[in-house]
Amino acid sequence: MGTLASFVAADMDRVVAATTGLQRQAADPMASAWVAANAGTGKTHVLTQRVLRLLLAGTPPSRILCLTYTKAAAAEMSTRVFDHLAGWVGLSSDKLDADLTRMTGTTPDARTVALARTLFTAAIETPGGFQVQTIHAFAERLLQRFPLEAGVPPGFTILDEAKTNALRRDAIDATLRIATSDRDTPLGQALLTAVRYAADDTFDTLLIQACGNRELIAQLVVPRRQDSDRSDSDCHEAFADLEATLRGMFTVAPDADVSALRPAMADVFDDETLRQLVGVLAEGSVTEVKAASILRTALGAGQSTRIAAFRGYFLTGKSTARDDLMTKGTAVAYERLAATATRAQAEFIRLHETARALDMVNATVALYRLAAHVHSRFIALKSNRAALDFDDLIERTSALFQSHDSASWVLYKLDGGIDHVLVDEAQDTSPAQWRIVGAIVQEFFGDAGAGPERAGVGRIGVGRIGADAATSAARPSPGRYSQSAMRSSRSTASKALPPRCLPPTAAISRPSHAARDALGTLLP
Ligand SMILES: Nc1ncnc2c1ncn2[C@@H]1O[C@H](COP(=O)(O)OP(=O)(O)OP(=O)(O)O)[C@@H](O)[C@H]1O
Ligand SMILES: [Mg+2]
Repeated sequence: MGTLASFVAADMDRVVAATTGLQRQAADPMASAWVAANAGTGKTHVLTQRVLRLLLAGTPPSRILCLTYTKAAAAEMSTRVFDHLAGWVGLSSDKLDADLTRMTGTTPDARTVALARTLFTAAIETPGGFQVQTIHAFAERLLQRFPLEAGVPPGFTILDEAKTNALRRDAIDATLRIATSDRDTPLGQALLTAVRYAADDTFDTLLIQACGNRELIAQLVVPRRQDSDRSDSDCHEAFADLEATLRGMFTVAPDADVSALRPAMADVFDDETLRQLVGVLAEGSVTEVKAASILRTALGAGQSTRIAAFRGYFLTGKSTARDDLMTKGTAVAYERLAATATRAQAEFIRLHETARALDMVNATVALYRLAAHVHSRFIALKSNRAALDFDDLIERTSALFQSHDSASWVLYKLDGGIDHVLVDEAQDTSPAQWRIVGAIVQEFFGDAGAGPERAGVGRIGVGRIGADAATSAARPSPGRYSQSAMRSSRSTASKALPPRCLPPTAAISRPSHAARDALGTLLP
């Protein structure tokens, strides 16, 4: 037992040493890093260590941007940094030396030791000092600073989730009132179509989900909302485009029309064939007699009854093709009738599938017509209150960075402020949020407009520390830096960490001159 215990202890020591070594690499501010590792294995710890090392290296606290997804995570990280800095103030020299050595891997010089003791005060007292923010808080601060460039009302207020839901509720109610008051309008028709497919309790949920598809909704409401030069026909075109796209997705021909499909479905048998089939089946097995009684209801009946009868004969309860239209004996005895029934079944199923797909297309277009209306109302309600919701914060900031007119100005103003971006819980960061991070760090690597001394820096990327098996959803959207990471010889794959790795963190730093020179020689 003693041997086993010491073996396990030695093995544990090895794992801890290997992990600490990797954490130290990822916390090195000279390297950009992407960390993916199991829950509770020290990803936030790495970011904390990185902040401490940045401060030790003389980085002004205000030049570090730490982004987390939740306020709780921001508070947790901030506490860790400040607790560590506060600890350094009163630590004995030996213990401070040991802590700094463990953190950096090298023995600190006297200047670094002295600096460490002052960092707590510096971080607290520096105006705009070290801050950890949620991405939403960062976006809010940015929009408050650049309201004109972002096209948001100066001094806007933020709608919390409860207020956002209440306003959306008002917008839904208003839309339904308008739609019910005039059923001949496209909106009224849309409501009639949509309610056929959604029960009371799912209708609101569906509508809110459709409203959540903001990129699509934006295309559908733009003509009415912002662009006064565009006429209503543009809006009509946007819905026509949506319908065409959906028809393509469900492989429905552009000219397919339910009003033409239903007569065809009702006529897959002419009455003479139908009468003959009913007569034959009525003399057959129990199942055939049952089928005959179903088909008999179609004789001389209207369209809907005929379609219902054929559906009962051709399809199973699960809407799959029935494979026993008649017994083998009957099929042999009435060969031509059997072939006719099989052909009619194939035709009926083809028409039935097309009609179902078309119903889906029409219901979806109707739902989006309602959702677009709800969304425009919602925008108007927010605009009246000079308010933005959480999604607006991200969207507007992302748009601000993407618009060529103002992006360079905002980045220029930010340039003086941020040299290091650290993102915790990076898997929760949405593509729109990554666009914001991407825009900030893009400038680190030199792009159009960067001075000649930055040429070539764009090839430095996010090195990845951790197992390679991070899920694709957990990775940043493919940007310059993540692509570059594949080429960066500084990326390191850990064998010590288990293969499933969530949630990740990322840290991207403006490369130093030395790092740029070093990487310049490593990269093609
Ligand atoms: N090298 C280390 N030395 C000392 N403590 C460590 C080390 N690495 C991690 N820890 C501690 O392990 C605990 C978990 O670490 P941390 O919260 O950073 O993990 P995480 O990967 O961010 O977790 P989560 O997946 O929950 O976000 C913390 O108390 C942290 O201080
Ligand atoms: Mg964490």
